[in-house]
Amino acid sequence: MRKLQTKKAAKSAVRPAKKSSPRAANANSILRDADQFLMPTYKRQPLIFTHGRGCYVFDSRGKKYLDFLGGIAVNALGHAHPRIVKVIRRESARAIHLSNLFHNSFQGPLARKLAQWSGMDRVFFSNSGAEAIEGALKLGRLYGRTSADAPGSPARKYRFLALENSFHGRTFGAVSVTATEKYRLPFAPLAPGVEFVRFNDVADLESKFDDTVCAILFETIQGEGGIHPVSEEFWNSARALATKNGALLIADEIQSGLGRTGRHFAYQKFSSKPDVVTIAKPLAAGLPLGAILTSEAVAQKVSPGLHGTTFGGGPLACATALEFLNIIEDEKLLENIRARGAELREGLSALATKFPFIREIRGEGLMIGIELSVDGAPFVQQALLKGLLINCTHDFTLRLLPPYLVNRAQVRQFLRLFEQLFATTPQKAASPEPAKTAPPSHAALAAAR
Ligand SMILES: Cc1ncc(COP(=O)(O)O)c(C=O)c1O
Repeated sequence: MRKLQTKKAAKSAVRPAKKSSPRAANANSILRDADQFLMPTYKRQPLIFTHGRGCYVFDSRGKKYLDFLGGIAVNALGHAHPRIVKVIRRESARAIHLSNLFHNSFQGPLARKLAQWSGMDRVFFSNSGAEAIEGALKLGRLYGRTSADAPGSPARKYRFLALENSFHGRTFGAVSVTATEKYRLPFAPLAPGVEFVRFNDVADLESKFDDTVCAILFETIQGEGGIHPVSEEFWNSARALATKNGALLIADEIQSGLGRTGRHFAYQKFSSKPDVVTIAKPLAAGLPLGAILTSEAVAQKVSPGLHGTTFGGGPLACATALEFLNIIEDEKLLENIRARGAELREGLSALATKFPFIREIRGEGLMIGIELSVDGAPFVQQALLKGLLINCTHDFTLRLLPPYLVNRAQVRQFLRLFEQLFATTPQKAASPEPAKTAPPSHAALAAAR
């Protein structure tokens, strides 16, 4: 009976809008309202998505799309996973919000599970990735402050190191450690004390690291910057320098964490751990939830009142996140991510032999970037027409972030569509300088050694 109800719940949650429904009939008026009343922060496609199921989404005209963008790494379980639908239905009828002045049933158990997955000791829940970054930056300053620093005046140890080509979010602190000029320059002057290190450049890192640095922060795999993994050499050097100088190593795993690479966290391929990890995106299967994970030593610097949030860690989001992590384990999704990721890379490598404008394929698990020597935007447009969702980052890199439960047939479907796309999309003239602000390609780095 219970099973039946769950199935029914999942079905009703994904029922397409009827042709005559106000949603379908009013598509134009919805777009007009958006045009007139929303702030113009996005160049949105003139499409209204109404619902999804598994690895597919549907627009208001009923057109079906294979979703290899996954809400930019959020929809790791695709859409309308029956267990997620069931938890949200159950818990939303019990308590959506309870103040952080009290305990709820899910924060503690979720924090325990995240600590087990990450090797960290303590957790703070936020609402978004940028909010997790803000908290991590505050922890850096807190950790760097000693009793010799006068309260209210700058600590001696206050500098942040971040990486060129980084992206950490849109809030003021997060944009201050984001290197891309178009995101930062309009808001200058930004938070003081930030310096950027050249990507994977150990010599540059060493020249900028001293005991005035309170934290070094970087994405283990740069996402918005075009899917660039930090090298083992760079990671080891950053870890050693942070330890030597009493600074924090903060790993931004907002896009690469929680299974995306086929490991719980991307940094787990290295032999050492960070001091602080930021996560968000897929954590609550589409509900807004982020977190800062820290070592015990970092958490000991915090006392009640120093940091907080109204919504972060609410019972509905935490119950859903706990279910998300359990589903990854129960459905053995890390194995699926590794297997499907390998099939994708193999198929893409075969395409690269046919289409010379494919420069490089990067990434791990189901976080893949395909760098082109031509403009990527026309391919994204053509993909939409063919019923495929992908995106282009840094102008020349097509980015794939499919759900963790993508199956073999869907990978094959994707590769077929992708090949048609490459064969039929008119290409804009090859750019002599493809990734102007991105790091040099790995092939170029290897050749330069
Ligand atoms: C690596 C990384 N850090 C931080 C953020 C910011 O997260 P949010 O958009 O949830 O604030 C993002 C978002 O794309 C990201 O990819």
